[in-house]
Amino acid sequence: MNSHWALPESDYWSTPFAQALLHHLDLFPGATVLDVAAGGGIPAFYLADLVGEKGAVLAIDIHPQRVSRGRTLQGERFPWLTFEAGDMKNLPDDLPRFDRITGNLSFMFFRPHRLQALKSLTRFLKPGGQIVLTFPSLGTFDSLWERVESEMKARQLDEERTALQEYLEERPSAEQARHWLEECGLQKVEVTEWPLEIASGPGREFLEHPLLRGGFLDDIYECFKDPALASEFMNTISRDLQSFQPLVAQRCAMSGWSPRIGA
Ligand SMILES: C[S@@+](CC[C@H](N)C(=O)[O-])C[C@H]1O[C@@H](n2cnc3c(N)ncnc32)[C@H](O)[C@@H]1O
Repeated sequence: MNSHWALPESDYWSTPFAQALLHHLDLFPGATVLDVAAGGGIPAFYLADLVGEKGAVLAIDIHPQRVSRGRTLQGERFPWLTFEAGDMKNLPDDLPRFDRITGNLSFMFFRPHRLQALKSLTRFLKPGGQIVLTFPSLGTFDSLWERVESEMKARQLDEERTALQEYLEERPSAEQARHWLEECGLQKVEVTEWPLEIASGPGREFLEHPLLRGGFLDDIYECFKDPALASEFMNTISRDLQSFQPLVAQRCAMSGWSPRIGA
């Protein structure tokens, strides 16, 4: 099935993850879809185009501003696509059951109780329905973490190093994702990883990189109690970019099917 709605080529993060999601998603015209962590509508618009007017897509996001943005982008298009505010970890019981549940760049937000959150979400699948989620899995930007860790070690920043270790240990792997899907009783479980290289120059370009600054770099700053030290530390790291290039993310897509009744 092809959508007329193209994923934005200029988006070098959401789009490649959405491509991984679509690789696993088995969709049909008329399907009902719940898209969680929908943001501005990647891939909700694409899915709405595929399911057509006989289908329905409910796109939910926890932040009302993201929901408004989705609605603004939508305008009069695809009346069978609805953007609503909601917490994917705590959806109301009276929500209908869906043929498909999708969530691009979503599974990292299932913490801290990932299995519980996944179980709670999969109960909204119809029997025989499919869930496909993506997230940057363990291994993402390992070269950066190794450089940060060795700099912390050289400077004897023990507390910061412990905080970094705790953060790294918390990140889910593809293998854990597979295990959790199976624990939820899902069948035909598939978990795949594809590498994605992120380009950046050194110094400010790295520190203010729109993808890195919003999430991954903030996680390093948060390991420090002293903001001035964090800033000086990160300046040093940013000037040494060549030592931890290429910066590679792992796009992980996890897919499973709920059992059919009587199967
Ligand atoms: C990285 S963005 C992905 C957005 C979109 N799917 C995309 O691929 O561009 C993650 C989104 O998850 C939303 N989010 C985080 N926690 C959530 C939760 N508990 N329930 C619903 N949405 C959540 C955020 O507001 C954000 O819009």
